Amino acid sequence: MTDVSDDLALGEVRSTEPNLDNGGLPAGLPMPRDPDLLKDLDRRQRVTRFQGERYPFPVPNGWFVVAEAADLAPGEVRALHYFDRDLVLYRTAGGEPRVMDAHCPHLGAHLAVGGRVEDDCIRCPFHGWKYDGAAGTCVEIPYGDVKVIPPKAHPRVYPTLERNHMIWAWYHAQGGDPFYEVPEVPEFHDDDWTPILVRDFEIRVSAQDMAENNVDFSHFRYVHGSDGIPEDEFITDGTYKKTIGGGGNFVREGFGLGLGVLRVKGYVTFLSSTSPIDRDNVHVRWIFTSPKANGPDAALQAAESFCAGVSQDIPIWENKVYRDPPVITKTEKLILEHRRWSEQFYS
Ligand code: FES
Ligand SMILES: [Fe+2]
Repeated sequence: MTDVSDDLALGEVRSTEPNLDNGGLPAGLPMPRDPDLLKDLDRRQRVTRFQGERYPFPVPNGWFVVAEAADLAPGEVRALHYFDRDLVLYRTAGGEPRVMDAHCPHLGAHLAVGGRVEDDCIRCPFHGWKYDGAAGTCVEIPYGDVKVIPPKAHPRVYPTLERNHMIWAWYHAQGGDPFYEVPEVPEFHDDDWTPILVRDFEIRVSAQDMAENNVDFSHFRYVHGSDGIPEDEFITDGTYKKTIGGGGNFVREGFGLGLGVLRVKGYVTFLSSTSPIDRDNVHVRWIFTSPKANGPDAALQAAESFCAGVSQDIPIWENKVYRDPPVITKTEKLILEHRRWSEQFYS
């Protein structure tokens, strides 16, 4: 049986009843829409047992969301794992977020497990050494009559900022400075737009592989069941990229690898953030808002539509390998262009 429905992002989409002849694996063309897949990891079917490195590139350099701003009050501490590292996030008494490597340079305690915020700093729970998470310096060793703090008592810290209701950290493999900015999304602070709605989920895919989906136009028909293959425009300019589709109604701007702002004219604006947990896994956060004129559920409907859409991609992504170089047709050159553009984000 084939169902046709109207999707916010893709227009008319076909869906098929799952057939159960694949040993429990999904029947595709198009893939089933199963939004519960996003949060319920037990529903994920991973059959690849590919050995070795999955991707020929490391964690990319860039700004990545590490927490929702509303989830962290002054004085609070969180344990995080992003960039293939254990991290500690805290908010100073004055309200500034700080991110640093989690393990104390002294004897290795995890600063989020018992650490306490004091003014701008965090004090280690094990022997009380106190660190400034902005400068990455130890500012006090509270015993033993220490005259000079050892210069190696210097945890790695990450530039942080708060924008679009999120806390962002800058990761650079060599500790380099930020080379692009996180854009402000004005709709998130506009009274004519609904309060933000956040969806978050993890996927076993790299930020680059996931981003490649946006320039892989032929998959829209086969994975998502949309009728035509969108004829999108793709523009890159330094660290910035932009795709325009639907006759200008669908605009996706990209800032680095893993930060996109999508606007479907008159319906929804959403920020898509893809934070690398490690080389092979990402934590996705989608932040939606819609014009209040479209009714109180407009952002929710948009969120449901995009979540159903990505549920079709997830089984493909989690079981694919990265072909380098891939075998492609001449209509798929944008995939190579996107790969070349992505190279600038690796040290
Ligand atoms: S391990 Fe942190 S102060 Fe000793
Ligand atoms: Fe997709």
